[in-house]
Amino acid sequence: MIARRLLALAATPVLAALLAGASQGGGATPGAPTAGDPYFPQSGDGGYHVVQYRIGLGYTPASRHLDATAVLTSRATQNLSSFDLDLSGLTVSSVRIDGRAVAFSRSGVKLKVTPAHALPKGRTFTTTITYAGVPKDVTDPDGSADGWIVQKDGSVFVASEPQGAMTWFPSNSHPLDKSTYQVSVTVPDGWTAVSNGRLQNRRSSHGRTTFDWRETSPMAAYLATASIGKFQVQSYRTASGLPVYNAVDPAEAKAAAPVLARIPAVIAWESKLFGPYPFDAAGAIVEHAHGVGYALETQTRPIYDRAPDLDTLVHETAHQWFGDSVSLDRWKDIWLNEGFATYAEWLWDAQHGGPSTAQRLATDYALPAGNDLWAFPAGDPGEAANIFGTPPYERGAMVLEKLRERVGDRAFFTILRSWAGDRRYGHGDTAQFIALSEKISGRKLDSLFATWLYGQGKPATL
Ligand code: ARG
Ligand code: ZN
Repeated sequence: MIARRLLALAATPVLAALLAGASQGGGATPGAPTAGDPYFPQSGDGGYHVVQYRIGLGYTPASRHLDATAVLTSRATQNLSSFDLDLSGLTVSSVRIDGRAVAFSRSGVKLKVTPAHALPKGRTFTTTITYAGVPKDVTDPDGSADGWIVQKDGSVFVASEPQGAMTWFPSNSHPLDKSTYQVSVTVPDGWTAVSNGRLQNRRSSHGRTTFDWRETSPMAAYLATASIGKFQVQSYRTASGLPVYNAVDPAEAKAAAPVLARIPAVIAWESKLFGPYPFDAAGAIVEHAHGVGYALETQTRPIYDRAPDLDTLVHETAHQWFGDSVSLDRWKDIWLNEGFATYAEWLWDAQHGGPSTAQRLATDYALPAGNDLWAFPAGDPGEAANIFGTPPYERGAMVLEKLRERVGDRAFFTILRSWAGDRRYGHGDTAQFIALSEKISGRKLDSLFATWLYGQGKPATL
């Protein structure tokens, strides 16, 4: 009787966790198999923080086969009896903790790891995962391909927002958990592998070349890349000493060249507006990719599915401050990334012979009530399928223009710089942005944000 009641109770998560902890002896419990984000409940994991990823990939374009090892240095944030990593597809052959083989199991996109002994809260440990197979991209709720996206010739476009990191490495894949990265990729001679940050080393032996990349600033897993192609490479330093590394598919080289030549100017211009460029490297990856249809602000080195236009370059570069250095706490707040990057385009255009930002606002406002723009509020997309819809981008930019109109240029640009500066390498949410805006401007702004950020449909007046 007692046993049966206990069993029934064990079905509740809290008691199950307590019982699991009790059996470990030290009150240790499993880490949650989610970061708790309602838009992507499968993404991310609780109970530990990944300090550093060291990812070694061996890739063969002809067979699409990947042979890989990931070494994660993590810190337990609770007494941990087991924990999960995000991994989609691929075959795991072993998992080691601090060098010792441990038990693991797969279920859906979760790789569950059970150490021999519970890991006490605060303990730093390394998890080494050996895995292989032919990676497969995932389809996002909006229907787009995400993750390790292979092209006909075996080249790979790797862009993982919001959930594609799990298609190529085991990760705690939510922007709440940011880490440094070392990515080494071995490919046949003649192929080039490009990741984030700086190229540390490049060596060839037995017909294969290894590229060692290092990203030293904290990075969300979705911003990691390891893109592979027969690229034309260009590397140089800007006047201020920032190393730029561009990798371009030959089919896009001619169209891309004049736009990529503006990278130093765009970074210098945005640095004046938003504060110092946050990272120690820059550049671009330009592919000739089919079935993608978007660019991504991969940290330090945005990736483009074709030669970008200048507005797209301005947009992805602005994300280095807004989205990459200052990350989201939850996907619902996506306008903090997309609205800001879109507003950077508005500012660029206004200062380079285009319409003023006030004109842009007025033109958008003139769109009829049935337009996509008014489909849902920028600050509350409602569901994961909407996060890359028009409102977070375009209405997000409108919100910033309304804010600027209200508080004046001086306060407005102080707000943008403080947002990027105070939260550099960290996180922010919408409530914190509103609080900062009110503090710097000295005004009550709740009705402005209620109408422009959270209002349903088209506001009654401009
Ligand atoms: N953040 C990217 C940009 O606007 C868009 C990524 C779209 N990704 C997707 N899976 N639909 O710069
Ligand atoms: Zn964007």
